[in-house]
Amino acid sequence: MSDPIRVGLVGLGTVGQGVLRVLRNNVDEIERRVGRRLVVTHVATKDLALNSEPLDGITVSDDALASVRDAEVDVFVEVMGGYTIAKQVMLAAIARGKPVVTANKALLAEHGNDIFGAAAAAGVAVGFEAAVAGGIPIIKAVREGLSGNRIDSVAGIINGTCNYILTQMTMKGQGFAEALADAQKLGYAEADPTFDIEGVDSAHKLALLASIAFGMPLAFKSVYCEGISKIGAQDIQAAQALGYRIKLLGLTRRDESGVSMRVHPTLVPDDQLIARVDGVVNAVVAHGNAVGTVGFFGRGAGGDPTASAIVADLVDVARNLGADARHQVPVLGFRTDALQPLPLLPIAEVHSSHFLRLSVADEAGVLKAITSVLAESEISIEGILQKEPREHEDASVALITSVVQESRFETALQRLLALPFVRDGVSHIRVEHFRD
Ligand code: HSE
Repeated sequence: MSDPIRVGLVGLGTVGQGVLRVLRNNVDEIERRVGRRLVVTHVATKDLALNSEPLDGITVSDDALASVRDAEVDVFVEVMGGYTIAKQVMLAAIARGKPVVTANKALLAEHGNDIFGAAAAAGVAVGFEAAVAGGIPIIKAVREGLSGNRIDSVAGIINGTCNYILTQMTMKGQGFAEALADAQKLGYAEADPTFDIEGVDSAHKLALLASIAFGMPLAFKSVYCEGISKIGAQDIQAAQALGYRIKLLGLTRRDESGVSMRVHPTLVPDDQLIARVDGVVNAVVAHGNAVGTVGFFGRGAGGDPTASAIVADLVDVARNLGADARHQVPVLGFRTDALQPLPLLPIAEVHSSHFLRLSVADEAGVLKAITSVLAESEISIEGILQKEPREHEDASVALITSVVQESRFETALQRLLALPFVRDGVSHIRVEHFRD
């Protein structure tokens, strides 16, 4: 029998323990696929107390950087998170000619151009399936399965924590804080959950998706980003009454003027599939000029689903060990020398429909004034709902506009906010309709 492939695991949190578990539980099945066993031989962690997986026969150390010098390891898995040390670990492994698999979307979004550049120069593989949408094999699907297409959009629910929170608020009337605490207990949230709820985690993932879809260098800083922390029960109810659900979406599109990348809460018509993707589940929809629309859904966070993606990368790496680097799939799916920095569109130039909820005084002429401002701005109203005042609550008007360029909508919004009867407490959420 061939020698096992020795895996060094750097980090032993929820995901690291998941990798140990999945490799142990599925070792025979994986061997049938690869022809060799995948065995963890070294674990580096500073926090052994949190581990509940057996570590018999495994070298355990507490120095991530030193662990990369272990000559008895063939491939490294970086699941420690963070930036500085994790980047050093990855670059050190690459410099030693060892492939690296990572779930670290934050590191790749911010420093991926350096890391992928070093990997390409050294002819070393870097796997990052687990960095986007947890267990959904979306990197492989877009980078390899859709490689016959010119891809023009990728969009989806790519943060399990936010989808869990919004689902709990919609279905169970749970408060934001309670739902977030549950998501943290279940191991879905980032170490710093503001990355989840303020949309930063989705923005990291979207930057990776845009690069593999369009063949451009990573441009995380150009992703427009808004989170869900300002979404309240009244928004969820008004959206439902108008026939929509609120989801945190990441959306990237390419047209003749350039590429837009944006993360924000979004109203989706409630009869579209993506509106019905609930809980920690993620969903990604891509559109290519040959295939049309394709969709993927599955668990986007948690130890075992994320480990599923990491182990799939390990299987790919294991199959290619020793092979000529020219036969590897390029890390972003396009030849490194063919990556193109495309024009990146600011949010002001993006076209979409808008949901607007205004708290207003209960006076005659309110609706007429609102509709006049929108009409003068050549913005058509597609749906409207008026709610009478309740005890301790103003009256409110919620409406959906036609598709309009964001800058034009923003000018109209400023005029609406200046109307004397409009109170504080405006909600503005973009709306998306997905094509089949
Ligand atoms: N915090 C992330 C999420 C984990 O909730 O989706 C997976 O990237």
